[in-house]
Amino acid sequence: MSNYPVIAIDGPTASGKGTVASLVAQKLGFHYLDSGALYRLVALASEKLGIDVKNAAELGFLVPKLLISFNNNQILLDGEDVTDAIRTENIGLRASALAVHPEVRTALVGLQRGFRQSPGLVADGRDMASVIFPDAVLKVFLTASAQARAERRYKQLIAKGISAKLSDLLQDLQERDARDSSRGAAPLVIAEGAKVLETSDLSIDQAVKTVLDWYQSVIT
Ligand code: C5P
Repeated sequence: MSNYPVIAIDGPTASGKGTVASLVAQKLGFHYLDSGALYRLVALASEKLGIDVKNAAELGFLVPKLLISFNNNQILLDGEDVTDAIRTENIGLRASALAVHPEVRTALVGLQRGFRQSPGLVADGRDMASVIFPDAVLKVFLTASAQARAERRYKQLIAKGISAKLSDLLQDLQERDARDSSRGAAPLVIAEGAKVLETSDLSIDQAVKTVLDWYQSVIT
């Protein structure tokens, strides 16, 4: 493993960790890894190929064959722009269903560690601190109440002109939380040494500032 510093930001779905992590990366001039996007890419690719989410072996074989590239804000799969296609609720649920398989998780380890480049990395996901970058210089567990997270997601969807029902979103979130926390392989846990950031009552700017302050305090 290289020595470039890693800030690991883990947390449940729709906690805002993606927004916070990418802003922290931007402020520090660090690279950014959205590890959830990788699981979503496997979900999309396997759906297109008709592979069952329960077929761990075939899903594991599929991963090294995927041609994935992150181009500024665009995500390409085999040359096709899938930035929006991977963000649907359906793909999120499918990603969470296939993320239970150790075969899939193991196949994605090298790809994720490859993002650790000069001058540093902010990595967001579920197991960044516990499994992928256990030597992260700062480990953050970013969370918010299920209600606050469902409301945030609801507002995002409505702003995009996508119709949504708050109660359905809340139920999807809880289903995904339960699966992510109870699976045997790399469950969503607060890693040892992680600082918990409860964002239900924080603005994005406040959350970003807290992470930056914590980072300054660990490197000085
Ligand atoms: O973070 P996001 O909602 O995009 O992730 C989609 C799904 O991928 C999650 O519900 C989770 O099951 C899985 N995931 C994971 N480990 C990660 C990132 C995402 O298991 N590091």
